[in-house]
Amino acid sequence: MLGTVLARYLRGRGEEVIGWDLPEHDVTQVDKTINGIHRVRPEVVFHLAAVTDVDGCEKDQGKATSVNFQGTWAVALGAEEIGCKLVYMSTDYVFDGQSRRPYREKDETEPLSVYGRSKLMGEKAVVRACRRRFIVRTSWLYGPHGRNFVDTIRMLAREKDRLEVVGDQVGSPTYTQDLCEPLYELAGSVKYDTYHMTNSGQCSWYELAREVVEVVGADSRVIPIDTGKSGRPAPRPVFSVLENRNLHKRFGRQLRPWQEALRDYLGETPAT
Ligand SMILES: NC(=O)c1ccc[n+]([C@@H]2O[C@H](COP(=O)([O-])OP(=O)(O)OC[C@H]3O[C@@H](n4cnc5c(N)ncnc54)[C@H](OP(=O)(O)O)[C@@H]3O)[C@@H](O)[C@H]2O)c1
Repeated sequence: MLGTVLARYLRGRGEEVIGWDLPEHDVTQVDKTINGIHRVRPEVVFHLAAVTDVDGCEKDQGKATSVNFQGTWAVALGAEEIGCKLVYMSTDYVFDGQSRRPYREKDETEPLSVYGRSKLMGEKAVVRACRRRFIVRTSWLYGPHGRNFVDTIRMLAREKDRLEVVGDQVGSPTYTQDLCEPLYELAGSVKYDTYHMTNSGQCSWYELAREVVEVVGADSRVIPIDTGKSGRPAPRPVFSVLENRNLHKRFGRQLRPWQEALRDYLGETPAT
């Protein structure tokens, strides 16, 4: 999702972009990945590749670790060897959800799931291997070019008159398009650090689903259910709102409210 949108944005800014993806480029092929970075010699590597199926990671821990940790380590080594900048996308799922306020960048991490642990290992690999690095944690992504919660609800709302959605997990839905400009600005700077980057505000999955149903004008009734009833294998934090503290402090930036971004997305993107 994010890779396609970011590549288009960067090209629109006049940047040359070389996009890597499976099957031609597999980050778990360590030597090929490092050699590839040597060959291309980019100014910046945006490392977005990951296994992002949170429930799937519980079933295949080996794949999660190999892509999200070892693959990230290879990318970080390659970036360090040629002295370029690295932007690594990470996740709100590095936190355990027990905080009573939005998480700050320096708060203690304690992932609950295999996915969260593998992404945190990726963060640590980046810190160890690469000096010119930005770690960017985001959350609840949606946008074109990939499966996501917003599209699923939009589709189901056309087919079903009743939708059950988890109401006891709270986070910040984030539109991939809204990350592009701040990521570009970040990568153009030398303010190396960890950043939280999400649309502002917070809601539960249930509240997000209600908003989607309302914006698309569907009649479905949305019913909140507890996480325990969702039958999902991966544990998720009950609260994973990220305070975008460093982004605000260093760049004076705050992303727009999630409701506004959602309306733009649903208005601009035809339902599939
Ligand atoms: N989605 C979210 O809600 C969310 C939230 C927080 C953080 N993030 C992070 O943000 C980043 C972008 O997320 P996204 O939702 O845009 O991800 P996405 O749509 O799942 O895209 C990830 C890409 O990585 C590719 N990939 C998987 N294994 C690979 C490998 N071994 N080598 C090279 N490429 C590989 C995938 O290819 P295939 O499709 O062929 O597998 C896919 O094209 C990820 O790092 C993710 O962890 C996402």
